Amino acid sequence: MIDHILISEEAIASRLSVLAREIDAAYEGREIRAVGVLKGSVFFLTDLLKRLTSPVSVDFIQVRSYAGTQSSGNIQLVHDLSMDIEGQDVLLCEDVIDTGLTLRRILELLSSRRPRSLKIAALLKKQLPENAGLKADFLGFTIGPEFVIGYGLDLNERYRNLPHVAVWNPKS
Ligand code: PRP
Repeated sequence: MIDHILISEEAIASRLSVLAREIDAAYEGREIRAVGVLKGSVFFLTDLLKRLTSPVSVDFIQVRSYAGTQSSGNIQLVHDLSMDIEGQDVLLCEDVIDTGLTLRRILELLSSRRPRSLKIAALLKKQLPENAGLKADFLGFTIGPEFVIGYGLDLNERYRNLPHVAVWNPKS
């Protein structure tokens, strides 16, 4: 069951406003091609993009990596981008960097398509040795290793619509 709220709706909103200002400053008015990693990033991506003043276009990619609460290590491309990204300033938007496998795989794939730039915006990053080498250019919060749900993050497809990020306790 849900153990406790880790990051409130208000804390997310205020952090996203700060991130949006950082992103606008970094791109200096250039058009941003925001790429959301389905499905978890949708809540983060929409709330973040609404705060930007830079021109933005949006696309989505979907890979499959999880079953239950464990990372399976298998990554499969389920849904590819609908637009070419060659020469574009791509901002990859992720809800959480856990092992980092998903992001590494997507970065590899998107870099091969020769974008002008490729940056990462992530709402959450777990503090784990596995993902230590993977740096988000724009990061909301660093969290511990616990399993989290809400604000896009699911447990077997449930709880994505919680307005906050909460810790799931499998034992309680
Ligand atoms: C989750 C999450 C990230 C990824 C992070 O997605 O949204 O994309 O796992 O894990 P990693 O860093 O260990 O690779 P998931 O595959 O569960 O799909 P979802 O977004 O549809 O929930």
